[in-house]
Amino acid sequence: MSRKIVLSGMQPTGRLHLGNYEGALRNWVSLQDEFDMYCCIVDWHALTSDFDDTAAMKDRIFDMAVDYLASGLDGNKCAVFIQSQVKEHAELHLLFSMIIPIPWLERVPSYKEKSESLGLDSYGFLGYPLLQAADILLYRADLVPVGKDQLPHIELTREVARRFNSLYGEVLPEPQAKLTKFAEVPGTDGRKMSKSYDNVLSLADTPEETAKKISTMFTDPEKLRMGDPGHPEKCPVYALHRIYTHEGTDKIADDCRTGKLGCVADKKHLAQSINEALAPVRQKRAELVSHPDVVWDVLRDGAKRASARAGETMELVRSAMRLKYDS
Ligand code: AMP
Ligand code: TRP
Repeated sequence: MSRKIVLSGMQPTGRLHLGNYEGALRNWVSLQDEFDMYCCIVDWHALTSDFDDTAAMKDRIFDMAVDYLASGLDGNKCAVFIQSQVKEHAELHLLFSMIIPIPWLERVPSYKEKSESLGLDSYGFLGYPLLQAADILLYRADLVPVGKDQLPHIELTREVARRFNSLYGEVLPEPQAKLTKFAEVPGTDGRKMSKSYDNVLSLADTPEETAKKISTMFTDPEKLRMGDPGHPEKCPVYALHRIYTHEGTDKIADDCRTGKLGCVADKKHLAQSINEALAPVRQKRAELVSHPDVVWDVLRDGAKRASARAGETMELVRSAMRLKYDS
């Protein structure tokens, strides 16, 4: 039996944060041993919002590749590659654009939210989830490990596959999303950790930066002084303890509730736990940054392997659509 195919991607729009790591990357790292994995740095998607800042793209791609590899992705086990280096993503996206009604795209929740909040109104931005569907279906992926916010995009991808198959025959399998245990990590202000809220803890931060950001974290607003009883279930510091502090989290919750534990000491403890967990990632990061050739080689090799699979799918797609004119 052939191995299952896994594909996922992230936009190179900034350094990776703990939400990206816990919500997606951690799963990628564990899946790479068992499955054929493709990890895509989706630079064309990033252009839907950062089209006026293309000069920074190359550095951001490099940073993202470094974050991937430092977190444990292994270029020998999975294909780590840049989307725009596999042109078939654009071809499949174009073919899909002929068969997908515009209202399907207008209905996607992220379109409405972001077009209003960020003022994005380009043709390409409307097509964002369709390009994502092309990313996934180009590899005929079975599994797509992502955070919870991506579920509507995976659902659309399944609809695109069904529409394609009903028009041209069964070529594209319907993929499943795969969530991690921590599919929504809170940021320092208690909202979802996100680049756009400026509330992130990044893998690349120094231990001091991490401690400083944690010291200003939002906590239970009803706990003003050390003796006040707290509500750990409402507190993002506690949510992060549950991910990063391996022992004694029940005691932290009890001591917070009874007022024995104050927020200042609790935050110091959290900073220590996170810095310990990230120490090996940061060390690997520093090594990779001083050997950029190693990183670019991984990306070049990844693009070759991705192209091989993408080429096979496009042959199937062109045949199914009767778009082969050379014989
Ligand atoms: P983004 O940074 O929005 O491009 O997201 C990249 C990946 O990380 C996607 O799979 C997201 O679902 C996931 N992700 C982003 N933020 C979080 C978060 N706060 N908690 C869990 N997963 C997240
Ligand atoms: N939309 C995804 C995000 O913001 C990025 C993405 C693009 C993606 N193509 C993908 C994720 C394919 C999974 C599979 O995180």
